[in-house]
Amino acid sequence: MLVQTPPMGWNSWNTFGDRINEKVAMEMADAMVELGYKDAGYQYIVLDDCWSLPERGEDGRIVANPEKFPHGMKYVADYVHSKGLKFGMYSCSGVRTCCGLPSSFGHEYLDAQMFADFGVDFLKYDYCNFPETAKCRLAYLTMAQALRATGRDILFSACNWGCEDSWEWMRSIGAHMYRSTGDINDTFQSMAGIVQSQLFNHVSPSETNYNANAAGCFNDTDMLTVGMYGNGNVANNAVKQTYREYETQFAYWCASGTPLMMGCDIRNVDDECRKLLQNKELLAINQDPECRPLLRLCNDKNHPTFMRELSNNEFVLFCANFIDGTRHTHFYFPDMGIPTNCGCKIDMTNVITGEHLGAFADTCQFEVPEHGCLVLRCKFVK
Ligand code: GLA
Repeated sequence: MLVQTPPMGWNSWNTFGDRINEKVAMEMADAMVELGYKDAGYQYIVLDDCWSLPERGEDGRIVANPEKFPHGMKYVADYVHSKGLKFGMYSCSGVRTCCGLPSSFGHEYLDAQMFADFGVDFLKYDYCNFPETAKCRLAYLTMAQALRATGRDILFSACNWGCEDSWEWMRSIGAHMYRSTGDINDTFQSMAGIVQSQLFNHVSPSETNYNANAAGCFNDTDMLTVGMYGNGNVANNAVKQTYREYETQFAYWCASGTPLMMGCDIRNVDDECRKLLQNKELLAINQDPECRPLLRLCNDKNHPTFMRELSNNEFVLFCANFIDGTRHTHFYFPDMGIPTNCGCKIDMTNVITGEHLGAFADTCQFEVPEHGCLVLRCKFVK
């Protein structure tokens, strides 16, 4: 299987926008290895929109911008591969990409073969400039099949922002991850809005967008902004997030089992955020081999609360506090299928602090700081 657990990597868009080039891609590959990200499990270096010239070449193929990529894309792919990493690129299902460059509508098989010839291992496929009369599901199926027809293993990262209730069908058309949100920016409000949109499905409010999240295909809540601190393409210098806000973001992505595509400049990220992005315990929960979807435990949008079953009979509890002031969170064990007379206690470890909290029965209560979160690894004890 191409994607056994949520994909992990780095994407150029959040920090670089259209300012991508081969130097950026190669330095990110170096940083991935030298600064410990590869060892932590991150694999993909993905170049987003703005890699090409404004028009296709005479042979119909998209042409890499020679100022940005003087040696062509295969050269970059080869370099990334030489570091033991995988290489990702970008196209779009419409007639132009979001930045107005050549896009794959009507060129799916030609473009898929071009990406395969470059040595691409991952294709992000966007949804801008999509013709009114065209069919979204068919367009994504066509590219998924075109990629398969190349015979190369290429992870298909479908990015239609949740349109047409994509969480219901992206798995069936062959996607390996599917964006079901609009674009994130580097603010706490943006991140919180994304989390709320995922836990409270707008079509069926009692559902979440995670029911199809499982090995082979994962619900994607966009690239992380952890570590950007107001710098880069989707940031605003006037609004800087705090470390605690980044911790809440990363903990949510990990606890919910979402793909982890870093968006900061990993060459320069501060030590605190680098350690967060490489936190072994959070990553182990993200990469749990059972890949189960989360189960929402509470209807309060400002205090997203869920459990997620893990392997080895363990489970994780998550709670975040999106509003000002400290929150006192109660967990009532019967909500988790653990009635009062069950004869068990639940042994809990605070994943972020590493503190072993002891064994609880019936209920437990914790303080969650403003914009902070709680991640508890739980197991049964008799
Ligand atoms: C869309 C996508 C973003 C990014 C940009 C590139 O907005 O949702 O993630 O790929 O296009 O133009």
